[in-house]
Amino acid sequence: MNEIRPRLLAISDLHVAHAENRKIVEGLRPSSEGDWLIVAGDVGESTEQITWALRTLAERFARVIWSPGNHELWTTEQDPVQLRGVERYEYLVDVCRGLGVLTPEDPYALWEGDGGPVRVAPLFLLYDYTFRTPTAADKEQSLAQAYEAGVVCTDEFFLHPDPYAGREDWCAARVEYTERRLAACDPEVPLVLVNHWPLLREPTRILRYQEFAQWCGTERTADWHLRFHTAVAVYGHLHIPRTTHHDGVRFEEVSVGYPREWKRPGHPRNVPRPVLLPGGTP
Ligand SMILES: [Fe+2]
Ligand SMILES: [Fe+2]
Repeated sequence: MNEIRPRLLAISDLHVAHAENRKIVEGLRPSSEGDWLIVAGDVGESTEQITWALRTLAERFARVIWSPGNHELWTTEQDPVQLRGVERYEYLVDVCRGLGVLTPEDPYALWEGDGGPVRVAPLFLLYDYTFRTPTAADKEQSLAQAYEAGVVCTDEFFLHPDPYAGREDWCAARVEYTERRLAACDPEVPLVLVNHWPLLREPTRILRYQEFAQWCGTERTADWHLRFHTAVAVYGHLHIPRTTHHDGVRFEEVSVGYPREWKRPGHPRNVPRPVLLPGGTP
């Protein structure tokens, strides 16, 4: 008889191109048959690696819920799948459907275990350069300052927005689509909002290079944790695992990060993280 009660767990930024991170995935096991695992993006870059990691996890956990990170959306020369932008995202959604993994295109699943009921909403919102540097008046100036500082996200070269003109246009479309879906949810049931990028700017203030914040989210979602009944907001991308509270709502950064990061002395290595506190939401 299994004495351990099922948990809702979250992890992100598995970056399985790194052999040592693949070992982490190989070692991930549920502690109970009923555990769910949220995977909040940056599983890897190549479709083969992404598929391997999600399949491995889907075979072990009762439910796996994925939202894409920027790395999954890169179209690199080495990848046999050369689709770009929306077509690449849709390809990955199809891969997930084949594995039984839930995506931002599926109905939001209801967790009824400890801490529930909560609705787990994987979101794909991208970014739009509105987390600008303090002295930039617009996107162009902010981007120019990042190039000058030598702090440019690799997305600029590999994350194509096709068929949209720019990543910010894709972001706007995703925000509008997602906003409609969240507004249609029953406000009585709290939401676990899962997005690779933080929903608001505050968590990026800790970044050493503030120029990087422009690739980390959008001002358009700054009040979503208040507008929608949010139990917890789960994100990654920053590679700074920690818990913060904003307007009384708990935010969990659940990244593994690169080996050079998680091997650093003092790194918490506290993932996968239980999303809900015993006895209900805070
Ligand atoms: Fe990452
Ligand atoms: Fe990322």
